[in-house]
Amino acid sequence: MPRVALVTGGAQGLGAAVARRLRLDGLAVAIADVNGVGAVALAEELGSADESIGIVMDVTLDESVAHAVSEVQERFGRLDVLVNSAGIISRRPAEETETSGWQRELDVNLGGTMRCCRSAFPLLQQGDNAVIINLASVASTFGLPLRLAYSTTKSGITGLTRTLAAEWGEHGIRVVAIAPGYIDTDLMRSGFDQGVLAEEAILRRTPLRRLGRPEEIAGVASFLASSDASFVTGIMLSADGGITISGDFRPG
Ligand SMILES: NC(=O)c1ccc[n+]([C@@H]2O[C@H](COP(=O)([O-])OP(=O)(O)OC[C@H]3O[C@@H](n4cnc5c(N)ncnc54)[C@H](O)[C@@H]3O)[C@@H](O)[C@H]2O)c1
Repeated sequence: MPRVALVTGGAQGLGAAVARRLRLDGLAVAIADVNGVGAVALAEELGSADESIGIVMDVTLDESVAHAVSEVQERFGRLDVLVNSAGIISRRPAEETETSGWQRELDVNLGGTMRCCRSAFPLLQQGDNAVIINLASVASTFGLPLRLAYSTTKSGITGLTRTLAAEWGEHGIRVVAIAPGYIDTDLMRSGFDQGVLAEEAILRRTPLRRLGRPEEIAGVASFLASSDASFVTGIMLSADGGITISGDFRPG
């Protein structure tokens, strides 16, 4: 049996790109998403039932996450890579934060990551070069106006990643985060639609002068999941075209 990856939020966007890439790398993949139809459709595209499966899973529900992990165990008998890509974003002035929306965003982005890590632990412990790859963000570094809950969750992801790396290293589990910049997905484009992001402002501040492609995050995940990264843990690897290091304030 090849190594096995479970990718949450895998029905679309970055999760889907990561699932595709890990399949190309020869791993079997379980694609888990609240959008079960999308997860199953991608799984069918990526291989036969012993190579890729789609699972409906809501990362906010303990039982749903536990069920997804037991499905992986039943179908593949192992788990080596967990990619936590399920995520949501809301945009509004901080002073208009509604408690219910705040709690929902924390529960999906941060609580969901914790739940998946916790449920996957027993299988990962027996894995080969086992690794958890969490999705951080430029919001882990920048204070992003109008995205209080989102930025808080993505800052939390770095603490969660470091803490699990420190605690689970002795169990043979690496824990890392990828911090994408502005990558062309529905989640990012919704910022254009809501008038919170302007593409030209992003490009002006990004040294590489373009948006990222989902495949470019998948490539980083591929490296972090591989034996080439077997001594890499606890880090946040930025793949952001340089936006978080640029001090360029020239006019124009
Ligand atoms: N796109 C970017 O520019 C960017 C930048 C930095 C970080 N990220 C992070 O990468 C991750 C993926 O983002 P994306 O751009 O692919 O978003 P996306 O909206 O395209 O995909 C997110 C996926 O998560 C799923 N999902 C949402 N809630 C869920 C839940 N409760 N349970 C299970 N699945 C759920 C959705 O159905 C969807 O398939 C997110 O954590 C996001 O914060 C994205």
